[in-house]
Amino acid sequence: VPLNASIEIDFLHPEGAIDDGIYGQFIEHLGRAVNGGIYEEGSPLSDANGIRKDVLEKIRGLRPSILRYPGGTFTKIYRWMDGVGPRSERRSRPNLIWGGVEDNHFGTDEAVAYARLLNTDTYFAVNMGTGTAEEAGNWVEYCNGTQDTYYANMRRKNGHADPFKVKYWGIGNEEAAGPDIGRLQDVKEFVKEAWLYTKAIKLQDKDAKLVLCGADDAWNDHVLKEMGPVCDYISMHHYVSSDKTKPASLFPQVDNMEQLILTLKRQIQTHTTEKVTDFSKWYRFPHRANGVKISIDELGIWEPGGTGAYQLEEYYTWEHALGTATFFNIMIRQASIVGMATWAQTVNVLAPIMTSKTASVCQTIYYPMQFYRRHAGNISLKAAVTTPDLQVPGSKDAKALDVAVTMHEADGSLVIFAVNRHPELAIKADLRSIDTKYTPVTAYELNAAGIDAVNTLDNPAKNVVTETEKQLRGPFTSYTFPAHSVTAIRFKNV
Ligand code: AHR
Repeated sequence: VPLNASIEIDFLHPEGAIDDGIYGQFIEHLGRAVNGGIYEEGSPLSDANGIRKDVLEKIRGLRPSILRYPGGTFTKIYRWMDGVGPRSERRSRPNLIWGGVEDNHFGTDEAVAYARLLNTDTYFAVNMGTGTAEEAGNWVEYCNGTQDTYYANMRRKNGHADPFKVKYWGIGNEEAAGPDIGRLQDVKEFVKEAWLYTKAIKLQDKDAKLVLCGADDAWNDHVLKEMGPVCDYISMHHYVSSDKTKPASLFPQVDNMEQLILTLKRQIQTHTTEKVTDFSKWYRFPHRANGVKISIDELGIWEPGGTGAYQLEEYYTWEHALGTATFFNIMIRQASIVGMATWAQTVNVLAPIMTSKTASVCQTIYYPMQFYRRHAGNISLKAAVTTPDLQVPGSKDAKALDVAVTMHEADGSLVIFAVNRHPELAIKADLRSIDTKYTPVTAYELNAAGIDAVNTLDNPAKNVVTETEKQLRGPFTSYTFPAHSVTAIRFKNV
């Protein structure tokens, strides 16, 4: 007997536009994310530039919108000059954050080329650990400079006549972290220094979009109060883990992201209204009021006990994929404030794609990423949802059904996303308030045999995840979502 739920869409008060930026990816010089992941010189699977072709095709399958690089914590020691120009002349350095040697054969020039292969925007995070604002400004000039100037000419000499047009620049990464890596743990110091970086970057490129490093509530409050008007995004990092002995224990942490977003949204609203802000201070950097968005620029699932560098290589189950789908529902529900998200990370490190020397595989979590990218519209609609609790040990009464609703502005079609997170039971949901102008057309469903299902490198050809497509006919008032499924129901606007 299925559990019962209901979905009532509010067509009158849309949440707002869904930013394409939520479909981003993040790659850091950590473990086998770059070397041995997207890049492997001399591999029969790589092209002449060392790009792993199999991995590139898999990432392309996600159609990412943004590529964040080169870290993460790695940014805190990164010298961008090490990663430009002829590879034979590049300097090897110890990777002072993650260990080993970084030969810098993949750097700025390659990251931009890679983003172009993927057709994504580029997002670079600058070094606030051992670097300076001046170096950051030089990096912007190297990438985006259009005049006859030193670093822009260096780029041209390195074979890149056209500017890279790097759009997003991250000021700091987890700067509130412990003393070994977070030099600027005091938020006042951070703000003081972040101003220098802001000037260095914005004076080079007034169109640069700035992402300021966020942390806890007190930190965010101060950053927004002092720098709200020049800040395009404030960052949030959200990693979740489960108690592996308890099914569904991942979901309360996944769901918690929505509360964190709402808290930060309130803080943004408090500090960026014209009433409380003296804009004259920022006249050099014109900025729209209320324009700050949240950048969830590290979003991921971090279970203890993986393999490889820092035990960050792990296999994800279908339960993790249901959590991933819920993340997308949350970002759609909070579309008016979430401006971007980059999955941490794309390959091998807590990643949807794993590689060996001879193969690569898409993990379970890859499929919901692809599914939302493929089916979601660009407008988020609100919906009132009643759902039973999961009522399985470990779930702390998390809801069984998680829903988001989108509309495609181009053709007015509607897509209801529903994640049934129950490990065993189907959920029958009454669909209320759907106008007769909408005709159901297709239900797309992602599923696996059970919540423990995994794809592994042992058998890369085997995919435990299935996507089925059901044609729908005639109006209907309820839909039954199978156990542990992700469904997108598409309605045509007639
Ligand atoms: O994604 C792995 C690490 O997690 C990043 O380097 C850091 O920013 C975060 O703590």
